[in-house]
Amino acid sequence: MEVFVTGGTGYLGRHLIPALESQGHRCTAPSSSELDLTQEGSLSRFDAGTFDMVFHLAAWTRAGTFCRTRGGSQWLVNQRLNTNVLAWWKETQPRSKLIALGTSVSYPKGVALKESNYLSGLPIEDFYAYAMTKRMLLVGLQSLAKEFGLKYAYFVPSTLYGPNYHVDGRPMHFIYDLIRKIIRGRELCEEVILWGDGNQRRELVYIDDFVDWLLMLTPRIENDVINLGEGTEHSIREFAQIICEVIGFPFERIRFDTSKYVGLTSKVLDVSAAHRLAPGLRRTSLREGLMRTIAWMLDSKLYLAAQADW
Ligand SMILES: NC(=O)c1ccc[n+]([C@@H]2O[C@H](COP(=O)([O-])OP(=O)(O)OC[C@H]3O[C@@H](n4cnc5c(N)ncnc54)[C@H](OP(=O)(O)O)[C@@H]3O)[C@@H](O)[C@H]2O)c1
Repeated sequence: MEVFVTGGTGYLGRHLIPALESQGHRCTAPSSSELDLTQEGSLSRFDAGTFDMVFHLAAWTRAGTFCRTRGGSQWLVNQRLNTNVLAWWKETQPRSKLIALGTSVSYPKGVALKESNYLSGLPIEDFYAYAMTKRMLLVGLQSLAKEFGLKYAYFVPSTLYGPNYHVDGRPMHFIYDLIRKIIRGRELCEEVILWGDGNQRRELVYIDDFVDWLLMLTPRIENDVINLGEGTEHSIREFAQIICEVIGFPFERIRFDTSKYVGLTSKVLDVSAAHRLAPGLRRTSLREGLMRTIAWMLDSKLYLAAQADW
């Protein structure tokens, strides 16, 4: 099949495109330097193409405090980018299926993170603008599908992790921060200080598992939202314990700083729908996934770099 991918240079795109190609699909995936999706008409040079699927991965966000402090800029960029992609899809690729990515932070606080709750209530304040752009992306898909008979699938991932994350010094998700600090504790004898009391809980999904599930479920999801994650969460202490064992650093030497911002205390998606549709798919164990991620961090020497906002 002919596949168009936005955001193909991103973390997910770098894993998804080889997987698509290994299944025999042909991918067109311009980078953001070749194609600024915030510019109206930027996609017009692809008008003549006939794509069977459009994976819309592009989004402008970062881990850490970014969403809390850059909500206005994020709203402008992501609204423009999503609107341009959806308009182009509707005008020039109406026969293709558009596969879009949402975010678990779009869910409101205090409800089960179940697909039927995705557009209910309000997202928490720290992620409000970003979360609302992701909700509007879904509303756009639903409305275009209803009025023009288009086809889409909207996946809501939990936090992705694994090797080959960005190495450009940007803030990274918490798991890379944990690994980096504990490696620095061992290699550079730095004090290891983790934010919060360590009891806050998080769900991760190994990047290659996520790609497998995405490809398996894409043909089966028609005009619907589907959560995609492990469906289990662990405390920061549990993650740190495994990382310490793998790296060879005494867990007792970690200090927890309860004065620091830690975000939500718990976040786990209800993935019963996905796992019903695709039972028995590969699941990399947490220990195995962390071992591969640690090996990559050591190889890339990323732990040596100063990080802006970790
Ligand atoms: N990673 C996660 O844990 C996670 C969790 C939940 C949801 N998601 C969603 O999954 C999708 C992929 O995530 P990811 O981790 O791969 O994100 P990422 O690594 O930050 O990649 C984002 C991609 O979007 C592109 N992009 C940003 N602004 C653009 C613009 N103006 N024009 C064209 N391209 C632009 C980036 O290009 P440049 O790098 O060249 O700027 C990059 O290729 C996103 O929609 C994200 O919201 C990710």
